[in-house]
Amino acid sequence: MQNRPTQKFSGGWHMRVSLARALFMEPTLLMLDEPTNHLDLNTVIWLNNYLQGWRKTLLIVSHDQGFLDDAPPVLGLHGVTFGYEGQKPLFKNLDFGIDMDSRICIVSPNGVGESTLLLLLTGKLTPTHGEMRKNHRLKIGFFNQQYAERLHMEETPTEYLQRSFNLPYQDARKCLGCFGLESHAHTIQICKLSGGQKARVVFAELACREPDVLILDEPTNNLDIESISALGEAINEYKGAVIAVSHDARLITETNCQLWVVEEQSVSQIDGDFQDYKREVLEALGKVMVNRPRE
Ligand SMILES: Nc1ncnc2c1ncn2[C@@H]1O[C@H](COP(=O)(O)OP(=O)(O)O)[C@@H](O)[C@H]1O
Ligand SMILES: [Mg+2]
Repeated sequence: MQNRPTQKFSGGWHMRVSLARALFMEPTLLMLDEPTNHLDLNTVIWLNNYLQGWRKTLLIVSHDQGFLDDAPPVLGLHGVTFGYEGQKPLFKNLDFGIDMDSRICIVSPNGVGESTLLLLLTGKLTPTHGEMRKNHRLKIGFFNQQYAERLHMEETPTEYLQRSFNLPYQDARKCLGCFGLESHAHTIQICKLSGGQKARVVFAELACREPDVLILDEPTNNLDIESISALGEAINEYKGAVIAVSHDARLITETNCQLWVVEEQSVSQIDGDFQDYKREVLEALGKVMVNRPRE
């Protein structure tokens, strides 16, 4: 096969040869025009998998929606270093991407830069070096506590959703109900709601925006146990990518997400589940306690 002139190959083999040539060069910019044409399923799966690991720029023209959904990272940070002015960098040379199937929960001690990482991913902060890259059609839904405090306080939740999304009254109320906001709270001013109730209004708003990626910073603060379960269910039903900072054991186990940790100015994935992470944390604490008397 390897000695045969390429003109004699079938379409599928032509495509493989062209791909092999393109990939062999390891270019900084890889442009693929309908790469899945003529390829058999095994090769599509292989290519998909290969491109998951592609950390440089990838430009794909394809009508194969399944391929596009799976393959390229849709959002990522590349060569990113960031520090607030006058402080030492929180992150050095971050390089990662998430795809549409990602379910990620960041668990770390407070103050290491989790919220900052999410702000870099949403483009609300600009890296000192490197860049945030996202698929240009990607809609990001973002939640944090400050956001909940910036709702239009004089409006009622129903008015707010109706105005923002041009929704009929009943649809707005239904959406609020889905996120566990009690009926009587639908029609009182947002400023009179509790923190947890405001959070539920924001979740309802997020759902109306139909984002492709949900980025949530400590979404369970102020929520009672039932609302945390409801949020977990909503996340499980949601089709897009989710990246959240949360230390809530219930939410983490319920959504079965991958755990990432921010440490040593970097972000890494934790092997294992939440139980393993807890064990690690406790072991680390154990070490501190054992060491203390000697210090
Ligand atoms: N806007 C800001 N300006 C300067 N320093 C900040 C700002 N926001 C956060 N920091 C500092 O950056 C560090 C990380 O903050 P943050 O990302 O909020 O941590 P985390 O979410 O992990 O608790 C903290 O030391 C914090 O004081
Ligand atoms: Mg934070």
